[in-house]
Amino acid sequence: MILAIETSCDDTCAAVVTAAGEIRSNAIASQGLLHERYGGVVPEIASRRHLELADALVADALEQAGATLEDIDRVAVTRGPGLIGALLVGLSAAKAIAAARRLPLVPVDHLHGHVVASTLQPDPIEPPYVCLVASGGHTFVARVDEPSTYAILGQTLDDAAGEAFDKGARILGLGYPGGPIVDRLARDGDASALDFPRSLPGDGLDFSFSGLKTSLLYRVRDLGEQEAAERRADLAASYQSAIADALLARLEQAVAREGVERVALGGGVAANSALRAGAEALCERIGARLWTPPIALCTDNAAMIAAAARFGEPVAYPGYLDLDAAARLA
Ligand SMILES: Nc1ncnc2c1ncn2[C@@H]1O[C@H](COP(=O)(O)OP(=O)(O)OP(=O)(O)O)[C@@H](O)[C@H]1O
Ligand SMILES: [Mg+2]
Repeated sequence: MILAIETSCDDTCAAVVTAAGEIRSNAIASQGLLHERYGGVVPEIASRRHLELADALVADALEQAGATLEDIDRVAVTRGPGLIGALLVGLSAAKAIAAARRLPLVPVDHLHGHVVASTLQPDPIEPPYVCLVASGGHTFVARVDEPSTYAILGQTLDDAAGEAFDKGARILGLGYPGGPIVDRLARDGDASALDFPRSLPGDGLDFSFSGLKTSLLYRVRDLGEQEAAERRADLAASYQSAIADALLARLEQAVAREGVERVALGGGVAANSALRAGAEALCERIGARLWTPPIALCTDNAAMIAAAARFGEPVAYPGYLDLDAAARLA
């Protein structure tokens, strides 16, 4: 059994997963409310909160799994990318737990976790597949031929899709994090009410979202405060649909180019209802099968870190004691 810890951003997460990919527990303590009043994650506050919560989350994950540390064979932890202070808390906790029992440790690339979230039970995807990862800090399409690694086919040249949601929500005067709020508000709006650009950079598989965000800003300015407030649901629905369309256009190109029949979504934006519905329609149209992880496996979680650790290189004790976290991975 694998005990995994994830603290790359503002969620403190621990999970117990078997080598076969069965999730025994997936404990998450979100710090969302703590950062809400600042309109974004404050790194130092996030690190301190992880420090307070890490032990409790590990205890929760073990208890929910009906396990103790005696049952754990290896420890997995997110090494990066993410907020350096936040990562260090999780990494130190993982090292301490592993070292005390002389267990091997598997350092995990957080994005590899998003890519392989769909390989978990009960319906694991098998390579080859194309995965669209859209999260708060990253947006890319990748090809997976074997689950230990992934090849990025195209990625965002500026903002991540989640960032586009969060910044768009701020322009609309909504709260933080913006993605889920825009998603909820969009249900009462008309996605075709306002026209937003769906520009895609170049002929490759890259994305760009900064122009879209700017066009929302101008649109709100042109409408004026009162009308923009009255049409908030239409604005949210139209803006959301532009983001989803841009993601789906590149996903369709990638699937066609790679000639695969299996498609997975990952990352926090994969929780978006327009993207999920659009991806389902797309895959049905092109005859591909789609894996959309449950929402708890899309946003940050430790089960996906354990999923990736099943395919990663374990480091034997004491080799990992001087292992460093990395805000960015090569
Ligand atoms: N229903 C939703 N619709 C749109 N966006 C959403 C939804 N739910 C969450 N998000 C967005 O997902 C992002 C968070 O995803 P995730 O937790 O994977 O990102 P992160 O860990 O901050 O970034 P990264 O994984 O790149 O390090 C936020 O930008 C949030 O607004
Ligand atoms: Mg993430």
